[in-house]
Amino acid sequence: MPMPTMLVHPLVVRITHWINALAVLMMITSGWQIYNASPIFPFSFPDAITLGGWLAGGIQWHFAAMWLLVLNGIVYVAYGILSGHFRRKLLPISPRAVLHDVGEALRGRLAHDDLAVYNAAQRAAYLALIACLALLVASGLAIWKPVQLHWLTALMGDYDSARVVHFFAMSGVAFIVLVHVLMVILVPRTFPSMFTGRVRRAT
Ligand code: HEM
Repeated sequence: MPMPTMLVHPLVVRITHWINALAVLMMITSGWQIYNASPIFPFSFPDAITLGGWLAGGIQWHFAAMWLLVLNGIVYVAYGILSGHFRRKLLPISPRAVLHDVGEALRGRLAHDDLAVYNAAQRAAYLALIACLALLVASGLAIWKPVQLHWLTALMGDYDSARVVHFFAMSGVAFIVLVHVLMVILVPRTFPSMFTGRVRRAT
C-alpha cells in the first residue's frame, strides 16, 4: 500500500523558491564583483567567489538576474498574500515565541517534527528574508536610477548612504541564507519536501 502523504509546499512556492535561490546566488556574487571595483569598506571579496570576471561582466549578470529576482518575487509575494499562504504559514508570530524557539534551536533542542508547520524561528527568518530582499531591491533601484527616483535615494539619505543600505541588506540576506542552509543540513528531511512538496503523513 502506498505511504499516505500530505502536501506541505504548494507548487508555486516550490518553483519560486528555487528560482529565487538561483537569482539570489547570482545577484550576490555579481554584486560582490561590482563592489570590488569601488569598495565602500576596507576589504574586497575574493575573486573566486565573484561572478562576471570583471566590472562590466558583473553588471551584466547583476541586471540580468535582477529581472529574474523581481518578477519571481512578485509572483511569490502575490501568491503568498492572495492565497493566504503567508497568513497560514508565517503568521501569527510574537517576539516571545521567536526568542523561545531561537533559544531552543541554539541548545539543539528545537524539534521540527511536523513539517507542515514552521516554528517561530523559521517564521521570523523567512519574514526577515522577505523584508531584507525588499530593502535590497528598493536600495538597488535608488542607486540604479538616482535621478528618476531621487525621492527614493533621498529617503535613504543620499547616493552613498543608499549604497551602504544596499550592502547591509545584502549582508542580512547572506547571513540568514547561511543559517537557513545550515538548518536544512541539520534537518535534512525538509530538503526533498521542497522538491516534491509532500511529506509522509504522521500516523
Ligand atoms: C541551497 C540553498 C537553499 C536550500 C537548500 C533551501 C531549502 C529550503 C527548504 C528545505 C525549505 C523548507 C523548510 C521546511 O519545510 O521546514 C525552504 C523554505 C524557504 N526558503 Fe529556502 N533554501 C535555499 C535557499 C534559499 C534562499 C536563497 C532564500 C531566500 C533568499 C530562501 C528562502 C526560503 C523561504 C522564504 C522559505 C519558506 C517558503 C514558504 O513556505 O513560503 N531559501 N528552503
